[in-house]
Parts: sequence; structure tokens; C-alpha cells
Amino acid sequence: MTNESKALVGLYHGQVRCKKNKFGTPQREVKTLAVLGAGLMGAGIAQVSVDKGLKTILKDTAQQGLDRGQQQVFKGLNGKVKKKSLTSFERDSILSNMTAQLDYKGFEKADMVIEAVFEDINIKHKVLKEVEAVIPPHCIFASNTSALPINQIAAASQRPEKVIGMHYFSPVDKMQLLEIITTDKTSQDTAASAVAVGLKQGKVVIVVKDGPGFYTTRCLGPMLAEVGRVLQEGIDPKKVDAISTAFGFPVGAATLIDEVGVDVATHVAEDLGKAFGERFGGGSIGLFKLMVQKGFLGRKAGKGFYIYQEGVKNKSLNSGMDDILAQFKLPAKPEV
Ligand SMILES: *[C@@H]1O[C@H](CO)[C@@H](O)[C@H](O)[C@H]1NC(C)=O
Ligand SMILES: *[C@@H]1O[C@H](CO)[C@@H](O)[C@H](O)[C@H]1NC(C)=O
Ligand SMILES: *[C@@H]1O[C@H](CO)[C@@H](O)[C@H](O)[C@H]1NC(C)=O
Ligand SMILES: *[C@@H]1O[C@H](CO)[C@@H](O)[C@H](O)[C@H]1NC(C)=O
Repeated sequence: MTNESKALVGLYHGQVRCKKNKFGTPQREVKTLAVLGAGLMGAGIAQVSVDKGLKTILKDTAQQGLDRGQQQVFKGLNGKVKKKSLTSFERDSILSNMTAQLDYKGFEKADMVIEAVFEDINIKHKVLKEVEAVIPPHCIFASNTSALPINQIAAASQRPEKVIGMHYFSPVDKMQLLEIITTDKTSQDTAASAVAVGLKQGKVVIVVKDGPGFYTTRCLGPMLAEVGRVLQEGIDPKKVDAISTAFGFPVGAATLIDEVGVDVATHVAEDLGKAFGERFGGGSIGLFKLMVQKGFLGRKAGKGFYIYQEGVKNKSLNSGMDDILAQFKLPAKPEV
């Protein structure tokens, strides 16, 4: 009869609902999927797709990136062999359904293209135009973006009804959620196809409108802004982490900023700040900007609020932050 129990039951029912396709059966089943960008995200999307029987093309622009991505997919599937949930023969026959390449060969057979290229509107437009020149008319173009409005990406498209957002979370093979974003031009059949692919990939799918921050980033934004504020008031990042994990978050709130990337958090804070003003105010964006300037981008750079070293579990605080935090120090609010 506790609130926690009710919340868990609610979560269960919600997940069950998210496993149905409320847009109906798509006119055409997606059988061949192409993924653009073999980074962490692109390779993760390719892995969960080929693993579920989709013919998958993984494309990148650089051989080195492509090799790394292909290796990631292999490692992911091989992990299942080690756990004995796949045989090595099954692993190899699954992998034989994936091709890794630098060109657009075979895109004329693609039913859907998911791009996970760099978060820059000009690059996204360039890629969209290149892709539309080679894909068949029925093919859907999906963008994994965490920040750019889908309608802005779709503005460069000759068939905006086929453009949609599919926002995955890292690591893709572990994170259950998929956020699908429709614009007012996206057709119902396109939405039906995207949801069907997400469900096939084993995801819990939510479908939202093309608003600033979509759903997940909009929920996360105010929390991260507030973390900045609390740190400015002189609270130790380790304390922020300890309190948030004790509350039930899987990752501490200060560590989360390092994981997301301080540069990404800065973009998000600026975008949401523009859209919502005061409501999303919290810490100073200047604090994050100075961190970016100093190269404290978080885990990917080895330094953020913490120092990250290969093989060291017990991460220590980045002493380079002392000056920065002192510069942005605010008087603490009395505890309530
Ligand atoms: C449960 O939630 C209700 C409504 O939000 C609240 O009034 C009540 O105090 C909560 N009970 C406990 C034990 O936290
Ligand atoms: C390879 O892809 C085809 C669809 O083109 C599918 O029927 C087959 O099951 C896939 N193979 C594996 C091992 O997943
Ligand atoms: C895909 O979405 C994830 C989650 O927000 C984000 O971290 C990543 O930057 C996106 N990838 C690209 C290249 O758009
Ligand atoms: C982690 O490092 C801190 C100091 O950097 C030390 O006080 C603490 O005992 C260490 N914890 C473990 C589990 O080694």
C-alpha cells in the first residue's frame, strides 16, 4: 500500500503500454536498415538491429572509425557467446547480416536510415541530401539527435513526411528507452515504422513532439542546472553524488554531468534557457563554459568534476576545478 509500490505498479503498466504500437501496422516492414556514423551510438544501434534479424549497413566516413565500430558490434555479440546465450556460429551468422562500409552501396535497398553523425545542423543537412539522392522513395530518414529540432533537420528534405527523430541512449545495447520524435509533417505511417523498428530492437518506446529538449532532455535539464547551482554554493561533488545515489539514482548527479559531457550539458542549458528562460535557470552557464575552455569535458576527456584514469575505479576530484568553482562561488542558501 506504499507510494513506492504504487509508483512501481504504475511504471509496469506504463512500460506495457510503451510496448504496443499505437500507430498501427506499418504499410511496409523495415527489413534493411542503414546506420550512418560508426561511433559509440551508431555501432550500438547497428548491434541491436542486426541482433534482431535486420539486414544492417553500418557506414562511416573514415576507415578507422568504421573498424572501431565494427569491433564494438563484434564485442557486444561476443559477450553473449561468453555468457552462453549465443553460440559462436549464431554470432557469425548474425554478423554476416551486417556490412561495414565507407560508401552508399546498397542504400537503394534500405527501408530506413538512422543517422548518428556529428551534432551540427549543416552536417546533418549535407548527410540528409546525400542520403535522399540514393535511397528509394519509401525509405524513412531518422535522426538520433539530442538537441537539434527535427523540423529544422527536415527543412532540407524533399520528403519531410518521411523524416523522424529516433533518440537512443548510451550504451544502446543496455539502455531500454527509445524516444521517438515526430514533427507536424511526419506521416502516421512513418511513425508506425519507427515504433515497429524500436520494438523489434527490444526498446521501450515513447513518442513525443518536437519541442525543445524533447522529453528526456527537458526532464534532465533542470536537474543538471541545479547541480551546477549547488556546486557553486560550495557543496562537494562527492556529496552531491552520495546524496543522489542514496535517493535512488543509478549515477550520481555530479558524475552524470561528466558522463553526459560538459560541452553537451552547456549546449542543452543554452538551448533550454533560450526556450524557457528563468524556469530553467539554476547554476551559471559561465561555470560550464569555463570548464569547456579548460578542456574539462567530463569522462571522454579524462577530466571533469573528477579525474578519470583507465583501470582506476576510485576516481578523485579534479583539483583544477577549485579555482573555477571559487570564481563562480555563490552564498549558500540556508538549509531547510
Ligand atoms: C504518498 O503520497 C501522497 C500524495 O502525494 C502524500 O500526500 C503522502 O504523504 C505520501 N505518503 C508517504 C508515506 O510518503
Ligand atoms: C539475416 O537477415 C534476414 C533478413 O534479410 C533474416 O531473415 C535472417 O534471420 C537474418 N539472420 C540472422 C542470423 O539473424
Ligand atoms: C545520439 O543521442 C545521444 C543521447 O542523447 C547523444 O549523446 C549523442 O550525441 C547523439 N548522437 C549523435 C551523433 O547525434
Ligand atoms: C578513494 O580515495 C580516497 C582519497 O582519494 C580515499 O580516502 C578512499 O579511502 C578511497 N576509497 C577506496 C574504496 O579505496
